[in-house]
Amino acid sequence: MTQPTYLDPNQSPERRADDLLGRLTLEEKAGQLTQYFYFGTGELPDPAVLEAMSEEERQVVQQPLAVEAALEQGAAGSVLFVVNPALHNRLQRKAIEGSRLGIPLIFGFDVIHGLRTVLPVPIALAASWSPETAAEGQAVAAREARAVGIHWTFAPMVDIARDPRWGRIVEGAGEDPILGGAVAAAQVRGFQGERIGADERVIAGPKHFAGYGAALGGRDYDDADISDAELHNVYLPPFRAAVEAGAGNIMSAYMDLNGVPASGSRWLLTDILRDEFGFDGWVVSDANAVRSLATQHFARDLTDAGARALNAGLDMEMCMFDPAFGRLPEAVAAGVVTEEAVDTAVRRVLEAKFRLGLFENPYVDEAAAPGVLSDAVHRDVARKAAEKTFVLLKNDGILPLAGQRRIAVIGQLADSPRDTLGPWVFDHDVDETVTILEGLRARAGEGVQVEHAPGVRAGSRVFPSMFDRMDHGLPTVADDFDDDAELGRAVELARSAEVAIVVIGQNQNMIGEKASTSTLDLPGRQLELLQAVVATGTPTVALVMSGRPLDLRWAARNVPAILQVWYPGTRGGEAVASALFGDVAPAGRLPFTWPRTVGQVPMVYSHYRTFQPEEQGQRYWDEESTPLWVFGHGLSYASFRYGDARVEPAEIGVGGTATVAVEVTNTSGVAADEVVQLYIHQRHGTSTRPIRELKGFQRLTLVAGETRTVTFELGPDQLRYWSAATRDWVQDATEIDVWVGGSSAVTEGTGALLTVR
Ligand code: BGC
Repeated sequence: MTQPTYLDPNQSPERRADDLLGRLTLEEKAGQLTQYFYFGTGELPDPAVLEAMSEEERQVVQQPLAVEAALEQGAAGSVLFVVNPALHNRLQRKAIEGSRLGIPLIFGFDVIHGLRTVLPVPIALAASWSPETAAEGQAVAAREARAVGIHWTFAPMVDIARDPRWGRIVEGAGEDPILGGAVAAAQVRGFQGERIGADERVIAGPKHFAGYGAALGGRDYDDADISDAELHNVYLPPFRAAVEAGAGNIMSAYMDLNGVPASGSRWLLTDILRDEFGFDGWVVSDANAVRSLATQHFARDLTDAGARALNAGLDMEMCMFDPAFGRLPEAVAAGVVTEEAVDTAVRRVLEAKFRLGLFENPYVDEAAAPGVLSDAVHRDVARKAAEKTFVLLKNDGILPLAGQRRIAVIGQLADSPRDTLGPWVFDHDVDETVTILEGLRARAGEGVQVEHAPGVRAGSRVFPSMFDRMDHGLPTVADDFDDDAELGRAVELARSAEVAIVVIGQNQNMIGEKASTSTLDLPGRQLELLQAVVATGTPTVALVMSGRPLDLRWAARNVPAILQVWYPGTRGGEAVASALFGDVAPAGRLPFTWPRTVGQVPMVYSHYRTFQPEEQGQRYWDEESTPLWVFGHGLSYASFRYGDARVEPAEIGVGGTATVAVEVTNTSGVAADEVVQLYIHQRHGTSTRPIRELKGFQRLTLVAGETRTVTFELGPDQLRYWSAATRDWVQDATEIDVWVGGSSAVTEGTGALLTVR
C-alpha cells in the first residue's frame, strides 16, 4: 500500500493539508477547529472531596477528563495550558492513537514574557526602545516553551493602550503605533525565528484583534468605540507590522468594536486582516469568545455564534466546555455555513501542524527539558534585557550611588519574588528570582550594610489573581501584616541610613487581565511611607515597580531621584542594582505619556492642534494640562547634545523619500545609550494630523565624548495616513516639520522643514 500524501514529509504543507482534509468527516473537521483549556493533571480528587463540591466546581474539576474523551474521538485540534512535558506526551499520544487518522494536537500557551526564565514585562521591553532586546528575550522564551512541548504562544499582545486604568497596558507596548509596530514585529521574529517550524521556536499569535485597549473607562472587556481614522492610523498598524513579520496566528478580541463583537466581525477578520494585510495563517478566538457572541446578545444561540464566527473568518475556537464549533455540522446541514468555509479554516490549521513538523515529531523529549529550562544563558539574557528597560524619570544627582556604607531598602515590593516577576507567569521558579534587596546586597559587597524594612502593603488581595490555581499559591501580600508597626520600623531604618531606597508601586496582582483601577494612586499607605522617609532628611531614591503610570506628583516634587523599574523578571534585582550603582546607565524611555492624575486620562502626546494653540485652551482649572512626564522621556547618567536636523532633499514629490540626518554627541565622561527619536508634524492637508508623530527611533551606545551621525528616512510609508475626508490612505502635498531629539518634547521651531510637492 502506498503511503498517503499527508504522511509524506517530502510533500508541501499545502498538499499534505489538502490530502488529509479530503479524508476527514465533517465532525472531525469541527474537532480540528476546537481548542480546549486543560487545567491540572487530569487526576480527580478523592470521591469524598468530589462529593462535597458544588455542581459547578465538579464540572471544572472534571473538565480535563472531558477533554481527554474528546481527544480520543478526534474531537479536538488543540489544547492550551499544558506545560508539563510528561503530560504533554500523554495527551498527545491519546490524540494520535485515539483519533481515526492520527492527527497530532497543537499545544498553545500564554508565554507572554518568558516561561521558566521570566523577562521584564512587555511594557518594559517596549520601554527599552530596543526591538532587538525584545526579539532576543522572546527567542529565549520560545526555546524554553518548545522544550516543554508548547508549539504556539498567545503573544505578543500588540493592543495600543491609551488608558492606564486598563490593567492590560502592562502586556503591550504602550500608546504609539510606530513603537508598537516595531516591538510587535521584533517579538514575532524572536518567537518564530526564520520561519514557522524553525527549531526551538514557537508560532506567534499577536492579539487581540482589534481595538481591545480602547475599552470604555479602562474597564476590561468593555466595548470600544474607535473612529475609522484612529483604527487605521493608531490601533491597526502594530497588527499589520506583526503580520508582515510573518506571524502564523492571530487571536481575535472579545469586545464589541463599534457595535460588532470583534470575534464576529467579518470586516476585521476578513476585509482587513486577510484582504488588506494579506494574513495567511489561522485565527483563534480569545477564550470562550465564540460562545460570547451569544452572551453579548449578538448571536441568537450557540449554533448561530459558531456560524457567525466562522463566516466572519475565525478558524479555531478556544474554549473551556461545549464548543460552539461543535455545532458546525448542524450549521452546515441548516445551510448557514458552507462546508467549503469549514474546509478553508481546517486547511489553515492543518497547514500549521505540517509546517511545525508535528506529524513527524509529535512528542517532546522529557529528558532534555530540564537542561533547557535551567540554561544559565537564558538568565543572563533576562538580566541584560532588564537593564535596558529602566527609565530614569528624575535625578537631582543622587544617582548613581557613590560610596554609601549604610543603605536602607524600604518597601514590601523590594523583597517579593512573586512581584518582581510581574503578571502572566505560570511556570517560573520563584526560588531563582533575585529581588531588588538580594540584588543590592550582592552588588554592595563587603562592608556595606543593606537593611530592609517592608514598611506597608503594596497592594490588595481583594480580587484574587485570576490564575491563582496556576500561581503556585504564592501570596503577594501577607494577611498578618501590620502596617502601623512596620511603617515606624521603616522610618527608623531610613533615619539611620546614608541613603534610602524606597520601592513603591502595585503588586503584580493589581495589573494584567481583569485588573483595571479607577485611580492611579499608590495603593495603600505607600505615599505616607514615602513622605515619612523623605521627612527623615536621608537622601531618598524611589524605585517604581508598576506596569502603568501612577500618580507621582508628590514624589516628582519631593524625591531627589525616581527610577521606573517595571516588573523586572527573574534576574531583575541584579539589573536594578547595576543601574543604581552606575554599572550601566539607565536609557529606557517612556512608551506612554505619564499623566499627573487619573483625571487627565486619556492623554497622549500625539493629540491635535486646537484653534488656540498658543493659549493652552485645554487647561483644567485645578491641574496643569501637561503630563508629569512626556512620551519618550527618560534621563541618563550621561548628557547628550543634538545638532540641527538636516533634511535632504528639502523638497520632494509625493511618493519621494528624504533623508533626515542629525549629529548626536555624548558630552559627558561616561558611556551610555541614547534613544534618538524622530518626530514630524504635517502643517496642512486632506485631514489635520497630530502635533507630533513618532516616525523613527534608534537606540545607540555612545562612549564618552563620541559623536555619531544618525539618519532616518521619510518616505511614503512614513508620510501616508488614513483620512476620514477621503475614507482612504492619502499622502498630501504639504509642509512637514521635522524634529530629532531625546523625547517627544522636542520644541516647535527647532526642527527642519520638508516640503512635499
Ligand atoms: C485572555 C487572552 C489569553 C487567553 C488564554 C484570555 O482571557 O484575554 O489574552 O491568551 O485568556 O489564557
